[in-house]
Amino acid sequence: MQKNINQSPVSRRHHLRTTFTSLWRQASVTIGVTIGVTIFAACTPKKQPQPESGTITFSQTLPGVWKASLGTPDAVNYLTVANPVPRESAISALPDGGFPEFFEEPQFTVKNGKTFIRIPLERNEKIYGLGMHFRTVQQRGRILRLHMDHVGGKDDGRTHAPVPFYVSSKGYGILINAARYIDVWVGTAVRKDSKNPPQVRDRNTDPHWSAAPYSDGIEILVPAEGAELYLFAGPEMIDVVKRYNLFNGGGPVPPKWGMGFWHRVPTRYTDMQVMNEVAMFEENGFPLDVIGLEPGWQSASYPCTYEWDESRWPHPEKTLNELADKGIRINLWINPYIPPGSKIHAKMKDYTGSHTVWAGEIPDYTIPEAREVLNSHFGENHLDIGVSGYKIDEVDGYDSWLWPDVAEFPSGIDGEQMRQIYPLQMMETVNSMFEDRNQRTWGLVRGNTAGGTRYPFILYSDHYSHQNFITALVNSGFSGVLWTPEVRNSPTGEEWVRRMQTSCFSPMATINAWASGTKPWSFPEVYNEFKTAALLRMQLFPYFYSAFADYYFEGTPPFRAVQLEKGFLDFTEEEMKNQYMAGPNMLVAPMFAGEDQREVILPPGKWYDFYNGALVGENELITIACGLDKIPVFVRDGGIIPMIPVAMQTPKPGEQVPLTLRIYGHSPGEYYLYDDDGSTFAYRTGAYNRVKISIDYNESGQPSIKVDAVTPDYPWAYQEIKFEYMTK
Ligand code: GAL
Repeated sequence: MQKNINQSPVSRRHHLRTTFTSLWRQASVTIGVTIGVTIFAACTPKKQPQPESGTITFSQTLPGVWKASLGTPDAVNYLTVANPVPRESAISALPDGGFPEFFEEPQFTVKNGKTFIRIPLERNEKIYGLGMHFRTVQQRGRILRLHMDHVGGKDDGRTHAPVPFYVSSKGYGILINAARYIDVWVGTAVRKDSKNPPQVRDRNTDPHWSAAPYSDGIEILVPAEGAELYLFAGPEMIDVVKRYNLFNGGGPVPPKWGMGFWHRVPTRYTDMQVMNEVAMFEENGFPLDVIGLEPGWQSASYPCTYEWDESRWPHPEKTLNELADKGIRINLWINPYIPPGSKIHAKMKDYTGSHTVWAGEIPDYTIPEAREVLNSHFGENHLDIGVSGYKIDEVDGYDSWLWPDVAEFPSGIDGEQMRQIYPLQMMETVNSMFEDRNQRTWGLVRGNTAGGTRYPFILYSDHYSHQNFITALVNSGFSGVLWTPEVRNSPTGEEWVRRMQTSCFSPMATINAWASGTKPWSFPEVYNEFKTAALLRMQLFPYFYSAFADYYFEGTPPFRAVQLEKGFLDFTEEEMKNQYMAGPNMLVAPMFAGEDQREVILPPGKWYDFYNGALVGENELITIACGLDKIPVFVRDGGIIPMIPVAMQTPKPGEQVPLTLRIYGHSPGEYYLYDDDGSTFAYRTGAYNRVKISIDYNESGQPSIKVDAVTPDYPWAYQEIKFEYMTK
């Protein structure tokens, strides 16, 4: 499989040649025009480039996927950097809603170096996605500039994941594949030639006058001479999302240890302090799979040497071996900027951009030689001695310390494009080191965008509102990115527990104590409740692991909006940004500090209490109360939830564990339980078991269960399978 399009030495030469040729062509045109003007100025008006415009013509590239190329798109875009390989057979297996019937044809114009796009909207159409936002889910009526960024105070498109992909409630999706700051007016602008114009009203007398009259289209401005558009079919929104994710290569399958508990220690912790911390986890009976080291593992950071600090980490290989003996993995914090004088700088300096960040140089990882420099340094100093992954910080950027858009990079990519693609090229570079070793990784990243679905990195932020964290979890599922509501600190024990509960129902269960120094037992009065959440996470390992397999095989986001449930669109946004789906069968409704009850909207079908199997309702709004020892979780009718006994770590390769399959409700259901070797990419060539478990009932209500055969040649961790009927 070709993993990376980033140019090989040969194709880079080709690229340079192409660039040179096109520059030469541009020069010829300019010369021609200049000569023309000079000679014929008196009789010939100066020619302007003709704007291109018209109806957008899409052509099919895959079943349910169409592409349109408008004007002259940039040579570099999200898909050329991430180079995902679409999972074609899985795309073909999806139901195909066909080409959406626009009530008016989509239009484009390329003029003055900009591309304008207009896609019509129907009256009741809702729009989701356009990246990860903290405060809003439905985007119609909003104006966004999709700009890679740290935390803005508003949901204005400056975000850790400004993904230019949206999903319509009418059952189609649009990707604007251009690595630019794209402006999107999501149903706010009104053209005078609109086919569905708003009524003119008199503000003096008409109580229905509105400052935001009805708009019947999405308008998009790409600041470039062209753009690629991709259109994804439904029929349902979930099918659109699945198709988009599969087009991007499908989601990442984590290593098994990635699904365990993570703890990031204070920034300047020494090796001894880490060993002590691990011992305290053992003493307290608290699960632990991964320790994250923050900036101080390095001899210098901001910018980063990527060299171990000899005073804090004198013998990293020995310490990592000792940790490995205890089953603990190490994840290293990094940022991309490298200081002059560091070992890596000497080799990287020819491949860095015109500007610096914190006086460190900025590598251009679209250049293969730059990737090779990082690869060999990380390989030798980190991966070879057992480092399991990275937390890639500061790739989202922050205007005041980042390079300006006028920056230049040796590959020819400009400052704006580099801002938009930095997380992608960094994830690609780091991920391919692990792929080359046939070793799965799991880590963190502070930026992501289109094309990034398949990378095994989870988004996080310095923003820290618990409510906003859940909205981010809801939104991430529309945009092919993963998000962790990490726990740092809390003003009260109650909030500490509530945050932990949601972290345990997310792609990464983690405490990030880099600044706070918190530990699971920091609030002794609620330690039991805190630990209960972590232990449940460990018991649910087979469920979450299989949910990630669904992401890879079928494109279903493991954590996603309730709005993606079929037939469920009729509630207001305010009610739907604080609850989410986890895996195929669970609905999670987190409690927030200060609340002793909350409302939950149940999608169509019957829903049952996860803990006791009791019926809670069906397609309705309910109010629930929930003590501090639990997070409200509901399971759909016919839902199956696999669980293993409490453990301090996720199952090791080859380990066999007993399995209980909980069955909820009284309706037929099917579930896919997944297992593989947990650490390599052998699953990509078929070395896995994805076993279908079906439950059915006869006329007198007697259940029968069918479990497909396990292929004995492939790993299978489960034994002593028991069924537990939760609903009496
Ligand atoms: C921040 C990051 C934090 C922590 C810190 C260390 O940028 O968001 O999670 O890693 O850097 O300096």
